[in-house]
Amino acid sequence: MTGNANSHVDARRAHVGTDGGVEHGGPRGAPRTGGDEPRVVNTSHRSIRLAVRMLLAGRLVAVPTETVYGLAADASNPDAVARVFAAKGRPTDHPLIVHVGSAAGLASWARRIPPQASRLADAFWPGPLTIVLERRRSVLDAVTGGQDTVALRVPAHPVAQRLLGAFGGGLAAPSANRFGRVSPTTASDVCAELGGAVDLVVDGGPCEVGVESTIVAFDGEDVAILRPGGVSSEAIARVLGRPATAMASGRVRAPGTLLSHYAPATPLELCCDDRAAPRAAKLVSCGWRVGVLSLTRTEVPGAAVTWDAGGDIAVFARSLYRWLRRADAEALDVLVVALPPDEGLGVAVRDRLRRAAHRPGS
Ligand code: TXA
Ligand code: MG
Repeated sequence: MTGNANSHVDARRAHVGTDGGVEHGGPRGAPRTGGDEPRVVNTSHRSIRLAVRMLLAGRLVAVPTETVYGLAADASNPDAVARVFAAKGRPTDHPLIVHVGSAAGLASWARRIPPQASRLADAFWPGPLTIVLERRRSVLDAVTGGQDTVALRVPAHPVAQRLLGAFGGGLAAPSANRFGRVSPTTASDVCAELGGAVDLVVDGGPCEVGVESTIVAFDGEDVAILRPGGVSSEAIARVLGRPATAMASGRVRAPGTLLSHYAPATPLELCCDDRAAPRAAKLVSCGWRVGVLSLTRTEVPGAAVTWDAGGDIAVFARSLYRWLRRADAEALDVLVVALPPDEGLGVAVRDRLRRAAHRPGS
């Protein structure tokens, strides 16, 4: 991409409305697809073309990425971006990640690309890494929450790649859940979360990684991990030749990283590995409907459900949000979780579990 972040789409918007389909009626010329249920389509070329037309018309399209499903809008269209915040019920000062097709697209959005950012992009893109950079002035305030930085990611999912390739610009895409709730890792989760607030859902099957991208920011020579995610801090340190700092130094703001987030209705009780079984057994004996979640199998007689990841932390990450949703569907009184080790993908899993367990006021 060349020029500013908006120019390519401005040129293409002129064509919206010439080939039938989504562009007549409703805001920015698109029809209401409305109702309580979004339209769900497969990943055929035709579906991708429909998704592009809807995006160009200012509509919201849920897209599979390798981490979680994103609620995508044209990042250069202020009305479309406003609809993302409305659909999610998200405060407007929580900035959005802009997804681009390749690192070549960075210069349209970022003023400066520090050498460490290029090294991380080379190593991990396309993939579950988000890089926060000084933004160009052309980037919408609505996308950045008024900050002077913009978060950028090149997703690896083939469907997201095809969509970005066909769209040609940047897609602002938060996770496709209602604010504060569990991120969706399947198309049906998106429908359950957002219903008719999303216009189109592209069903690309379950997400491979299952937790969101790792977010990094740059402060002089320092690299800070603002949110642990699909790329481990160990892998980042290997590329940089030194460790990244664990969290923002305070100078970089990541407004979405709240204490309570990713939260199911079911209360969670987090335990270190060897405490989970006795704690769950105690709650069962009190007559509670108990679920148990652990990395390796944990036997608890009388538990309503026991879920485990067969010792594989990648399976834990991939299944985590599905399990949290099932905990609600099972109407558990409590889900007792044995925390996985605090390393690799386990850091992101523990981070999400802590936020899922946190109750406001607790
Ligand atoms: O894996 C992911 O990152 C998924 C998929 C869809 O790409 N997206 C995602 O977006 O998790 P969202 O909006 O649910 O979380 C984005 C996080 C928020 O915590 C937000 O505060 C932070 O990124 N963020 C966005 N722009 C930022 C910026 N300029 N500076 C610091 N943090 C930023
Ligand atoms: Mg989110």
